[in-house]
Amino acid sequence: MSAHTRIVAWVLLVVALALTVAGSATWSLLVGRLDARVGAELANEAEKLRAFAKRAGPATDVRGLLRDYLGTMTPDTYETYFSVVNGKVDQYSVVRSDERLHLNKELVAAASAAQEPSTGWASSDAGQVRYLVMPVRVTGDDRKAAFVVGVFYDEQRREVTDVMRSFALTSALAVAVAGAAGWLVAGRVLAPVRLVRKTAERISDSADLTRRLDVPGDDDISALAGTFNRMLDRLERAFAIQREFLDDAGHELRTPLTVVRGHLELMGEEDREETVALVLDELERMNRIVDDLLLLARSEQPGFLDVGEVAVAELTVDVLAKVRTLADRTWRLDEVADTHVLADGQRLTQALVQFVANAVRHTRDGGRISVGSALRGQRLELWVRDDGPGVPADQRARIFERFVHGAQTGTGLGLAIVANIAAAHGGRAEVRDAPEGGAVFLISIPAYRTGEPGEPHSDR
Ligand SMILES: Nc1ncnc2c1ncn2[C@@H]1O[C@H](COP(=O)(O)OP(=O)(O)OP(=O)(O)O)[C@@H](O)[C@H]1O
Ligand SMILES: [Mg+2]
Repeated sequence: MSAHTRIVAWVLLVVALALTVAGSATWSLLVGRLDARVGAELANEAEKLRAFAKRAGPATDVRGLLRDYLGTMTPDTYETYFSVVNGKVDQYSVVRSDERLHLNKELVAAASAAQEPSTGWASSDAGQVRYLVMPVRVTGDDRKAAFVVGVFYDEQRREVTDVMRSFALTSALAVAVAGAAGWLVAGRVLAPVRLVRKTAERISDSADLTRRLDVPGDDDISALAGTFNRMLDRLERAFAIQREFLDDAGHELRTPLTVVRGHLELMGEEDREETVALVLDELERMNRIVDDLLLLARSEQPGFLDVGEVAVAELTVDVLAKVRTLADRTWRLDEVADTHVLADGQRLTQALVQFVANAVRHTRDGGRISVGSALRGQRLELWVRDDGPGVPADQRARIFERFVHGAQTGTGLGLAIVANIAAAHGGRAEVRDAPEGGAVFLISIPAYRTGEPGEPHSDR
């Protein structure tokens, strides 16, 4: 069921329920009043008969008394009288043919047997009748007489039923109007929602992420459209980045493949060994590129870091010890931060090793490369310094992007990985001028410090 029909169904249900409650309350009120009115009417008739008998004074003829009484009385609508003398109907008021209550033999018998005034229910051709029997006795006359008043209850109730019928008709009309109004209003309210849905469908069908929703106004729906559009912005950007990444990666891998293929095609008997060595070399390079690509992709995922307590001084010294043998350089230890931080020690080491690999590539034999670490306020800095040519100012931001590399260097993934390692730690990677020429590559991360062994937790 669509939201539209659901809203209308609810409106109809609520309106119908309200009208039903109102209707049944009215019904029981009207019926209650009717009952009370009929009771009062009968009591009034009894009172009138008593008053008449009192006014007439002492009588000797019970039949005459009742005849006189009936002669003066005209029954109201829905009412009839008759008198019973010695078990027989004596006189009755003139009424419609279906209201001839005096033809009811049981009632006549009950009336002539009555000793006390009594009320009850009888049936007639005009439906149920509420009656009152008043036995009448006259001293000196031993005839048993009674006066009977009947009120045609069902006929009066028919009036109530008529009222209720027109109430029901009006209610049906009200429900229809409410339904139509609900349908229109729901349609207006839901129109923007439908627009959002349609556009979203069109976008997902055509896979065209450049489309945007256009919902004017400043209500919830246009806010929803805004949120949706911002999500599309992010998706579009993410997909663009991914596509670029694939393009770049494909391009980088195609070059060694072309080289390998060319050499294999041209390979003769005599240069066989040489070609195999070259091909193996290229394959090794591709292997490294693939590894780096995977590492780069993983470094952008959550959960990349394996955070633990890292002794920064030890880490700095270890990196230097590890890279010393890489090349013939003058290796130095600048300074070390004597502290413990929460970080991923392996990834930090990896980052520094990347810096060192680049520094080796950009320095000559005997050139100077220094490694160091220091706490600066709430931040930890780790760096590698060299006395090579340095990085021109206009290149500094770009070299951290992937596949950005100089003329005869590597793939250009190294610094991109380092930048991601720093970002995963909530920090950044950057390059600066070294005071004495060359480059300083450093990563700067927030120092979430743990208490040094033997010391309380502190920020000193
Ligand atoms: N110490 C440095 N001195 C001067 N330039 C540098 C230094 N380190 C990096 N660069 C420049 O930054 C570029 C990007 O470095 P990056 O480590 O990202 O790539 P790469 O070393 O060329 O390749 P890869 O690390 O993937 O093998 C390098 O190609 C080089 O031009
Ligand atoms: Mg590198």
